[in-house]
Amino acid sequence: MRILFLTRSFNSLTQRLYVELATRGHEVSVEFDIADSVTEEAVALFKPELVVAPFLKRAIPESVWRRHVCLVVHPGIAGDRGPSALDWAIQDGETEWGVTVLQAEAEMDAGPVWAAETFPMRVATKSSLYRGEVTEAAVRALLKAIERLKTGAFSPQRPSPGAPGVRGRARPLLRQEARRIDWQHDDTATVLRKIAAADGAPGVLDALFGVPCFLFDAHAGSLPSPAVPGSVVARGDRAVLRATSDGGVWIGHCRRADAEGSLKLPVALALPEQWQRLPAIDACSEIRYEEHGPVGVLHFPFYNGAMSTAQCEELLAACGDALARPTRVLLLAGGPEFFSNGIHLNVIEAAASPADESWRNIKAIDDVCRAVLETTDRITVAALQGNAGAGGCFLAFACDQVWARAGVILNPHYRNMGNLYGSEYWTYTLPRRVRRGEPRAVMENRLPVGVEQAAAIGLVDRVFGDGRDGFLPQAIAQACALAGSAEFPALLAAKQSKRMADEARRPLAAYRDDELANMRRNFYGFDPSYHYARAQFVGKVPHAWTPLHLAVHRRRTAA
Ligand code: COA
Repeated sequence: MRILFLTRSFNSLTQRLYVELATRGHEVSVEFDIADSVTEEAVALFKPELVVAPFLKRAIPESVWRRHVCLVVHPGIAGDRGPSALDWAIQDGETEWGVTVLQAEAEMDAGPVWAAETFPMRVATKSSLYRGEVTEAAVRALLKAIERLKTGAFSPQRPSPGAPGVRGRARPLLRQEARRIDWQHDDTATVLRKIAAADGAPGVLDALFGVPCFLFDAHAGSLPSPAVPGSVVARGDRAVLRATSDGGVWIGHCRRADAEGSLKLPVALALPEQWQRLPAIDACSEIRYEEHGPVGVLHFPFYNGAMSTAQCEELLAACGDALARPTRVLLLAGGPEFFSNGIHLNVIEAAASPADESWRNIKAIDDVCRAVLETTDRITVAALQGNAGAGGCFLAFACDQVWARAGVILNPHYRNMGNLYGSEYWTYTLPRRVRRGEPRAVMENRLPVGVEQAAAIGLVDRVFGDGRDGFLPQAIAQACALAGSAEFPALLAAKQSKRMADEARRPLAAYRDDELANMRRNFYGFDPSYHYARAQFVGKVPHAWTPLHLAVHRRRTAA
């Protein structure tokens, strides 16, 4: 089918649906929801058989839905309506939630339902549920809806709120008043639920040290001694510990609300002086190492997969400790949400000199990659539980093997960030991996890649375990099997001789120097594209046009 995606942005859900439909042979083109006239133009150019709206905040124009079947992916159960579906579900403590695929009509989210899927709720942030359960359910529901459309034998029904079996109902935007934390009375579970329902956006409007802030990234913590509820009692690992009515919560990130254009940052960077004045206590480090027999597992679940200079330095030190252990396999597990998304664009944007901070950050992530590449006394494996983008993909490719959970999406390219050249030793690792096609094509393809497709090219070695929780235990079991296998000594010996031969042919340092020379031009040169693209990205500036690599229909007219 010729399918037009009408979407606010090419976010993770949209990317996953795009990959699923494209791999099934559908011709998919994308148009960002900018204005009704632009949508009408896209429809006239592409002449879609179906319009799909995976992530839309406005109604589809009548001129479009009257003439074309438009399927809206709504992150709510049948009958649910409104812009804060998942936020309400978390805040209200729903135990089961779902996704509906419904046909667009005049009233938003009220059209006939073509498919609906449900899932058990997990205690997690809105973003985590969205990237996990919602995305999986949306894939199932959209594929089912398209099948039903094609057969023509299905007649979609309009769920009537209140009818037997219809739990969903219309709910308004979840406003800050309803998200407000009552520090005197809210217990830890309530505070965590309120922040989770607003994480990644918009956050819960509150205050830290008297400064109005949106709060994100909260975890339960224990107070060193009893404290007045609401008081900020300590600092640790870039976060602050705050007392609730029955315990404490660590708050890792905030966005100041007292200045226009403030960014979401670690609390230690958003409020540095106040943070510094707090007593320091031992907080759980973001990075965690564990051992399973001959396998060392390094977890680095950095918020949003972004890795600042300091986080890279800490990861490098943790790698060093892990490599001092007598294991045979080192498994880099990233985090459950993301493997990694490369250098930390928010921290860079907030720095006094974004160019200098970009430079420090890229060298710090390169150091991590080099430590992995130079590990010759054991096998290294990247276990991708979640998506990876840009430098985060190439950190994975520095490992000997790349294993990924089915459903993970990769963006193994840098050019979308203002034509960034990229580093992380990609000029060494990519040609080593790509089995089919040109390494250059991988870099120039600005589109997301599903892991099955990535495996066909050679970017990924194994794909398994589609469940969120099932993948890592399976990866650890497979790593243990690898460490104990009869082939292990030969595998290690082959790796050692290949590395030595590669180093003799061209040292790793030469690849790095070349890449960094290009990156220096990106950071300090005349062309400001990277700085402009980064500012747009971190500032969440709405798109003004759809890039041609997504808008296939516009490519035809542009040619
Ligand atoms: N630095 C800082 N924040 C980042 C980040 C990075 N490198 N990559 C992603 N994020 C943040 C996003 O701003 C967003 O923040 P929010 O929670 O405040 O909304 C969050 O992570 C989720 O990202 P989003 O873009 O919504 O995720 P996605 O799954 O829809 O898209 C990518 C994934 C990889 C396509 C997209 O995040 C991206 O292009 N990231 C930048 C990668 C990059 O250029 N890195 C630098 C070069 S190495």
